[in-house]
Amino acid sequence: MAGYLEGKNIAITGAGSGIGKAIALAVAAEGANIVVADYGVALDGSEPTNVIAESVAGEIESLGVEAEVIAGDVSRMETGEDVVEASVNRWGSIDGVVCVAGILRERMLFNMSEDEWDAVIAVHLKGHFTIYRHAMAAMRKQDSGGSIVGITSGAFTASTAQPNYSAAKGGIVSLTRSAAMTAASISLRGGPRINANCIAPTARTRMSEKVPFEFETGDPSDIAPMAVYLLSEAGREVNAQIYSVVGRRISVWNQPKEVRSMFSSGKAWTPEEIEDVLPRTIKQEANPFIEDLERRMKEMAKEEGN
Ligand SMILES: NC(=O)c1ccc[n+]([C@@H]2O[C@H](COP(=O)([O-])OP(=O)(O)OC[C@H]3O[C@@H](n4cnc5c(N)ncnc54)[C@H](O)[C@@H]3O)[C@@H](O)[C@H]2O)c1
Repeated sequence: MAGYLEGKNIAITGAGSGIGKAIALAVAAEGANIVVADYGVALDGSEPTNVIAESVAGEIESLGVEAEVIAGDVSRMETGEDVVEASVNRWGSIDGVVCVAGILRERMLFNMSEDEWDAVIAVHLKGHFTIYRHAMAAMRKQDSGGSIVGITSGAFTASTAQPNYSAAKGGIVSLTRSAAMTAASISLRGGPRINANCIAPTARTRMSEKVPFEFETGDPSDIAPMAVYLLSEAGREVNAQIYSVVGRRISVWNQPKEVRSMFSSGKAWTPEEIEDVLPRTIKQEANPFIEDLERRMKEMAKEEGN
């Protein structure tokens, strides 16, 4: 249904390729003007160029809406400000932001360099903060409010080869929940309605090229309808949620909460008391990723034995 986002002005980081580009084209096809924010870098964050962002802006304009280009690094505060201002100055508002920009620097934890850690945390986690910070400040001043969409990953739960990426994606989940709480407190005080949610996508792009997918995967265009919905007036009902999107499947994540407690009989616990009581009472929570690893190791050992 073209026109679902008619009249809205939306900024999308990482809109130059992959999932960001698919989202930008879908949002534009629904009638929104777009700020194309992309540094045009290689997968590891090197060799920036504005060519990619300019080219996507051209494609967007051919759909009959307007486009602005910000070819800066989203991990810099001024880029966050420039992205939001580009929309407000040209069209009078910023109605939604989608933070898709990302890079990869894969390495096991025990081999990772400080640079590999810092670069990934900067682009993903700080790259969300720089946009959220300026978008929220503008949206709370607009009667029409706005929508904030972060991009996390199923890897926010854990990743052996990408601990920096996993930590950044976990940070994005917590930052987005914090933005959602801020948004709720703004509207409960009679201010405009703002929502903040995350999508955890899986799609075939240059970033996922080397992932040996054992599970279903899909195309970047499969991710776009969920982003369009979350940016829409109807989507404004949804707040503080994480949705996985892959192919035809959309799943909602649970909200983290404590599941069991134990109380000391004396003033405070001693380590010896914890050693005695914990295994009998609150125990450990099963970790599906370690269980899966154990299962796969057993299967491999069995195959090697045959
Ligand atoms: N592809 C998947 O299966 C998958 C899975 C989980 C999460 N994700 C997330 O989806 C997002 C998009 O990934 P993709 O697969 O489309 O990758 P991609 O490499 O095709 O696109 C990433 C884009 O971000 C831009 N970018 C990188 N650093 C930037 C910076 N500092 N400032 C501005 N722009 C910058 C790049 O130029 C590129 O256009 C990422 O956040 C990624 O972590 C992807």
